[in-house]
Amino acid sequence: MKRVLSGIQPSGQLTLGNYIGALKNFVEMQHSHECYYMVVDLHAITVPQEPAALREQTEAVSALYIASGLDPAKATIFLQSHVHQHAELGWMLTTLTYMGELERMTQFKDKSAGKESVGAGLFTYPSLMAADILLYNADLVPVGDDQKQHLELTRDLAHRFNQRFGDTFTIPEPYIPKVGARIMSLDDASKKMSKSNPNQGSFIAMLDDPAVIRKKISRAVTDSGREVKYDPQNKPEVSNLISIYANCSGKSVAEIEALYDGQGYGPFKKDLAEQVVAVLEPIQQRYHEIRKSGELYDILRQGAERAAEQAEKTVKTVKEKMGFLAR
Ligand code: AMP
Ligand code: TRP
Repeated sequence: MKRVLSGIQPSGQLTLGNYIGALKNFVEMQHSHECYYMVVDLHAITVPQEPAALREQTEAVSALYIASGLDPAKATIFLQSHVHQHAELGWMLTTLTYMGELERMTQFKDKSAGKESVGAGLFTYPSLMAADILLYNADLVPVGDDQKQHLELTRDLAHRFNQRFGDTFTIPEPYIPKVGARIMSLDDASKKMSKSNPNQGSFIAMLDDPAVIRKKISRAVTDSGREVKYDPQNKPEVSNLISIYANCSGKSVAEIEALYDGQGYGPFKKDLAEQVVAVLEPIQQRYHEIRKSGELYDILRQGAERAAEQAEKTVKTVKEKMGFLAR
């Protein structure tokens, strides 16, 4: 069985973009792969976090994992900070990463742009992400389009380590969905849908009330035409809404175009809102049950135990190969 690993940061609310670009694939892959899914809390602190907010968000994202359908009996679900080997291998890989490589990362450029002071962790973030993946010798990493560059660096680091110290790491492949790899903002189709956008109307949060979801979709920006047609070049807003529709309904783009042929945007948007609500409402119900039940802590403890077993094997090998003395 191929091994899969991925993670999401517990910083702010998860959006429909996170669900379609990442979580939905996590759930699908658990049936046919050996999966490791974590909440990357160590990555979250690369920008300032209020401790109480970090605690709440970490619990919320973990609960959303389970509520979305991740099954602790099938996948190993854990917090990055519960497995100390991430920080350990992260440091070792940082020493193998070139400054120039990190300087080229677009996520770093975006997140540091215009900031007066930027923590060094935001810069070395990709080396920690490489450690996350290489610790488990993952074959596949399901992520949205924006993480492709980080995956390339991970592959380069794995090659570099293997060449310098002997064959150790599996070279991972990104797994990026064909439709929905990049869900765009509802108010501006040139920006990806993001929880950090100050305009609440620009994103659908996974925990938004159905009434709020309907309102946000009815207000989503479209062009002045009336043709429901997938054409990202000329109709980026409508194409984005079609991607969302396709992902939430399981219908193909062609089916959706045919369904709304000659009808204009009104009926299309109305149905789209219902498709999104139909996906998110059951997840929200399970989410509240899970948060109430307290079962999360057991799941995360067991997940961390399983993950640590694998992670420790890798760190032991890496230390030997790099020349650290055994205890
Ligand atoms: P982040 O919220 O940046 O930690 O992202 C977590 C995962 O969700 C990553 O795999 C991202 O690539 C994915 N993701 C985030 N935003 C979007 C989006 N707007 N469209 C598609 N995937 C996304
Ligand atoms: N950098 C990823 C993001 O912002 C989160 C992440 C951290 C991750 N470690 C990972 C994703 C390992 C996949 C695999 O979305």
